Amino acid sequence: MSQRARPEDNPLREGLRVGGASEPALFTIFGATGDLAQRKLLPAIYNLAKRGLLPPRFGVVGYARTHMGDDAFRRFAKAAIEAHSRTPIDERFWPAFASMLHYHAGGFDDSAHFHALARTVDGLDEQIGGGAHRVFYLSTPSSFFPVIVKGLGAAKLNRPTALVRVVIEKPFGDDLQSARALAETVHRSFHERQVYRIDHYLGKETVQNIYAFRFANAIFEPIWSNSYVDHVQITVAESLGVEHRAAFYEETGVVRDIVQNHLLQVMALVAMEPPAAFEAESVRDEKAKALRATRPLVFSDSVRGQYGSGYVAGEEVLDYHQEPKVPADSNTPTYIAAKLEIDNWRWAGTPFYIRTGKRLAKRVTEVAVQFKRPPHLPFSREAAEHLEANSLVLRIQPDEGISLRFGAKAPTPTLSIRSVNMDFQYGSSFLADVPEAYETLLLDAIRGDSTLFTRQDSVERSWEICDPLIEQWQTGQPQAYASGSWGPDAADELLARDGRRWRRP
Ligand code: BG6
Repeated sequence: MSQRARPEDNPLREGLRVGGASEPALFTIFGATGDLAQRKLLPAIYNLAKRGLLPPRFGVVGYARTHMGDDAFRRFAKAAIEAHSRTPIDERFWPAFASMLHYHAGGFDDSAHFHALARTVDGLDEQIGGGAHRVFYLSTPSSFFPVIVKGLGAAKLNRPTALVRVVIEKPFGDDLQSARALAETVHRSFHERQVYRIDHYLGKETVQNIYAFRFANAIFEPIWSNSYVDHVQITVAESLGVEHRAAFYEETGVVRDIVQNHLLQVMALVAMEPPAAFEAESVRDEKAKALRATRPLVFSDSVRGQYGSGYVAGEEVLDYHQEPKVPADSNTPTYIAAKLEIDNWRWAGTPFYIRTGKRLAKRVTEVAVQFKRPPHLPFSREAAEHLEANSLVLRIQPDEGISLRFGAKAPTPTLSIRSVNMDFQYGSSFLADVPEAYETLLLDAIRGDSTLFTRQDSVERSWEICDPLIEQWQTGQPQAYASGSWGPDAADELLARDGRRWRRP
């Protein structure tokens, strides 16, 4: 009788990095009763604890305006984890975990609250033996970021600098000017090295694998340039609409929501030069250089869209204007396709096409590197008519993996070359569940490793790339596209102009 393989039996798991945090730490969540804390942060902390990756001396302080005690917060956290964790609650483990959760009620705009918080944190620090690293996670609407960092500074919760870190959720400003103003406020209380700007895309295993793929292998890097690559396509497609977030989305739109952060970060990883070492400053220097070489988005090379009604996965869905809280005349774009050019030795002349949108045919994020065609084909036209150029597709999500498309002789009596795929899949190669991005990033913040967090210079450069287009898109209307499609026809024309077409993921 054949036995099902268990993950621990898989020899490929040998040597997988599982290093947890060892130094004592206290993790404070501002906005602990909010959506992000419930959906992502509390489940991530729970799963880290279950995987044995948190330090043995550890505590969480939930901070929010709602009045409740530790026990009520523990019940609240349990309900959130039950609803959103990727693994079920283990009742035997729960009491030990729950005992690490604490709650402190307070507002964000009164320094007395921060002094009270300081007493709570100091008390817990003492309880767990002292010398704890302190992570303050700002999981509130961004309008509270300035007052919270000010409050932390006023209560001296920003010290000692070697032990204290502040984690800031996006958005980091809503244009270059406000991003600079926010940084100025933050830097009045914290050194840049204490500031961890979170972009959850950078915590995705498959996004991190872009480094590994490029720099742990000798065979890809030599062809990773304009000499061999015709162009690159980066797709971040979502099947969901704006859901209950229209008020936020109306202020944001697709460029601020996805391009300025997730998409440009992924592009920077694909385009950057090899860093000297896989450590925070080397990696972030190279990403910043790639972004500096990227030309700002231009109106004539961009297409904006807004979803109309249609069908997604067989279900009828609403037009964007019919979503709750969307004004009837909204011109907020929910889709963009654009051409980006990188002015450096490696990429000049090889465009990066990007597209992202809500309510598209399916949820898929991928990077497709399209190679040039062979300089000469020694086959008849008929033999090679089905042959496509080589492409390498990094599948970020779902169905995480990598595939290489190349030509092979089909088993037919007359010569015929067809394109086939060579495929790597995370699931079957590592027989392990891919952890949530937030688990990776929270653990890194606790350990004090900022490699996967965004540095201020990259944030500013990304706004410089996006701001001109956002400004030009203030007026005029996006093109409507049917929900469940791949976006407006003009997106196809954008590539057709250059003699290219979008890959169908
Ligand atoms: C968030 C955006 O940053 O990323 C959302 O605000 C978007 O609008 C989400 O849906 C996508 O993340 P993921 O991990 O589901 O691809």
